[in-house]
Amino acid sequence: MLNKPEDKDISILTSEYCRLDDKFDFADKTIELDLGCGKGSFTTKLALRYPERMIFAADVMIGRLRKLQKRNDREGAFNIHPLRVEARHLLSMIPDRTLTRLHILCPDPWPKGRHRANRLLCSDFVSQLHRVLKDGGHFHFSTDDVPYHDIVRRVIVASGLFEEKNELLADFADIKSDFEIRWNEQGKKVYHILWVAKKKK
Ligand SMILES: C[S@@+](CC[C@H](N)C(=O)[O-])C[C@H]1O[C@@H](n2cnc3c(N)ncnc32)[C@H](O)[C@@H]1O
Repeated sequence: MLNKPEDKDISILTSEYCRLDDKFDFADKTIELDLGCGKGSFTTKLALRYPERMIFAADVMIGRLRKLQKRNDREGAFNIHPLRVEARHLLSMIPDRTLTRLHILCPDPWPKGRHRANRLLCSDFVSQLHRVLKDGGHFHFSTDDVPYHDIVRRVIVASGLFEEKNELLADFADIKSDFEIRWNEQGKKVYHILWVAKKKK
């Protein structure tokens, strides 16, 4: 992965940064994160809808972030900060109670048994999601994969850390991610869930 001159707006986060707020000023900001954003059509539309918010778009694949950044420049979505970083590493860099909303949209479902360990959503990860969200913050998840959907819901319920409130999906129900558009074109339905983070003890 060689950096190109046009990567100047993409933050490559390695262990040299301990906390995300060493690099970005979070003071008085409403902050959202699209984790595993891919090419990020969802993120761009969200950022254009909420230009006053600070929106992070994170992915491990630099090529996808380059496409996202080109679109942001073209469409004037200047409040997006693309981060090239692994999801678990990124969460470890975010202070407690930082995010107002966190989106994980159409993550790879890893349906084969031997690949399940690659899935992002496990109980440890869920407690990290809860930690970085503000009390009352929103976790928005989507997938076309029904078994994955059911497993994620079970893990979240078992955590006792969130309350399901799908009526809050209405705020961005008209915005689809690139993978949702792709799955819909193939006749597949994508399921969305929104959980509200319970107050931390
Ligand atoms: C199936 S795509 C979905 C992209 C986008 N959310 C959408 O709905 O169009 C999953 C994305 O997650 C990224 N990804 C997978 N594992 C990741 C990880 N551990 N950390 C960060 N990004 C990851 C992949 O590079 C890919 O771009």
